[in-house]
Order: sequence, then structure tokens, then C-alpha cells
Amino acid sequence: MIDRPRRLRSTEAVRRLVRETHLVPSQLVLPLFVAEAATEPRPIASMPGVVQHTRDSARRAVVEAAELGLGGVMLFGVPQHKDAHGSGALDPTGILNVAIADVRAEVGDALLVMSDLCLDEFTDHGHCGVLDDRGRVDNDATLRIYAQMAQAQARAGAHVVGPSGMMDGQVEVVRRALDDDGHEDVVVLAYAAKYASAFYGPFREAVDSSLQGDRRTYQQDPANRREALRETLLDVEQGADIVMVKPAMSYLDVVADVRAAVDVPVAAYQVSGEYAMIEAAAAQGWIDRERAVHEALLSIRRAGADIVLTYWAVEVARRLAA
Ligand code: PBG
Repeated sequence: MIDRPRRLRSTEAVRRLVRETHLVPSQLVLPLFVAEAATEPRPIASMPGVVQHTRDSARRAVVEAAELGLGGVMLFGVPQHKDAHGSGALDPTGILNVAIADVRAEVGDALLVMSDLCLDEFTDHGHCGVLDDRGRVDNDATLRIYAQMAQAQARAGAHVVGPSGMMDGQVEVVRRALDDDGHEDVVVLAYAAKYASAFYGPFREAVDSSLQGDRRTYQQDPANRREALRETLLDVEQGADIVMVKPAMSYLDVVADVRAAVDVPVAAYQVSGEYAMIEAAAAQGWIDRERAVHEALLSIRRAGADIVLTYWAVEVARRLAA
């Protein structure tokens, strides 16, 4: 026998030598929820260990994230009041914009401050855009709001904006709006291939979502693989600096396709339902929690993601440092 692949697995020392994929804190991004009405951090029942932050606790969380060497934090705002146009998203005193300013003041340039650029947390109907008179999500009217939202977030201090609403043309509109306002350095992390997924379930609790119905007229059909490349290439043409696939684990084929098709960095978002499934199974004693978390994250990196958004970012970074 000539080929004995087991030779390279015989000790941890040799396994370490030939390991192809690694997790490093600098490539992990922590999503953070900041709630306007919170007077203390509020646990999210379907995401054990994750909270809706107050402005103060968010500041403490980003200091910790910076100390651990994370790549960044992705901020989501949970406003107290919503309306049909999501006006809280444009208001400099709206919760997301003040949270951006708070955390930027805390970390400066030591950690990337990223913000979700989408209307769903701010609209009373819960859709990612405004509705027309027949109740359909109005693409182009929404783009005009996204342009202003990008400027509001950049003015508040975001290093990176993450348009996540899956409106056609959103990356180009956001890029132009940023440049017109003197924010040429602000990075666009485009949610390029975002699927209409059941795995966002716990997130809806995390942001007190008011959505009735679904997002299938704008988010992608889970059955489609080629369409993800079409969406991604359009975003790169429109000026995306980084493209993202979301969710991650049920879409690793898409992550691999996208990695092969573009030259820009690729991110993947390990979403709330992916987190909840592992936490729930581990709580039952059915899987080894730490190993499952590590394996899930490795699989996303192995598929081709350079950057991973994960609710376990802090825990994993601590373990890597130990
Ligand atoms: C939209 C947005 C969503 C998530 C991130 N950005 C929800 C959705 O599209 O319905 C989901 C993240 C998660 O499930 O962890 N603003």
C-alpha cells in the first residue's frame, strides 16, 4: 500500500501541521441588538446567551469585542416606535444611529463598526421597504430611503454599511449616496445572496419584528443556486466591497460558488436559527456544544467564507485566545 492518508492524522501535532482551515478572531463579526426601550439587557428567549442591549451595555460589548480582536460588530436597532415609512431609520436620534455613534466613540478605529441597512426594524408592517398603494414592496421608492439611510449611518460613524433588504439596485444607490456625502471610505458589505429563510425565526424575536406574511418577493427562493451568482455579480458591478451569503450552513454550496466567482472578500452570516438549533440540541445534552459550534464555523470557512458573522464570536475568540 502506497497511500496511507491516516499517516497525517496520527497525532495532534501532525494534524495541526496539515490543517487547511482556521478560525481567527479578526475574521469573526458579532451581531449586536440595541433596544431603545431597554433599561437593562434583555435576554432573547430563542437565542440563549444573546440579549437586546441597552446603549450602555452595547458600549461595554464593543470594548470587549475590540479587546478580543474581533473583526467588527454588526449593529441592529430595535426602535420603540415604528411607522409605515420607517422614519426612525433616517433620524439622527433614532436608536440605530445613536448606537452607531456610541460604539464608534468607544472603539474609534480599533474595531469595525458595521450597521444593518434595512427598513424592517423600523416599519410598522415589518417589510424591508415601503409599500405601494396595493401593499407591494416598492423597490424604487425604497431605494430613495436607503440612500438617505446610508448617509445617516455614515454620518453617525459607521465604517461599514450592510444593505440587507434585497432591493434591486440597492448597492449602486448606497455607494453613490455615500460618495455624494463625502464618505468614499465607508465600506459596502452587500447582502448579495440572501434567501427567504425559516432560519431567521429567532431574529424576529430579537428585533421585535412586526412582519405579517413573508419576504418572498424580494429575498431569494431557497431552491435557487444559479440565481445567487446573478445577484452577487450584480452587486460587485454596482460597487460592493464585500459580498455576503445568508444564511450560511444550509447554503454552503452557494458560499463555495460565490467564492469561486468573485475576487472581493466573501462573508457568510450564521443566522439566528443556526445558533438556536445548536444551543437547543446542546441544552438537551444531544450534542457537544463547543465542538458543534467550532465545526459549524469551520464548515463555513472551509466552504470559502473569508468572514463569518456569528453570535458566538466572543465565545469563540475567547477560546482561541486561551
Ligand atoms: C434584515 C435582516 C434579517 C436578518 C439580518 N438582517 C431578517 C430578515 O431578513 O428577515 C436575520 C439575521 C438572523 O436571523 O440572525 N434586516
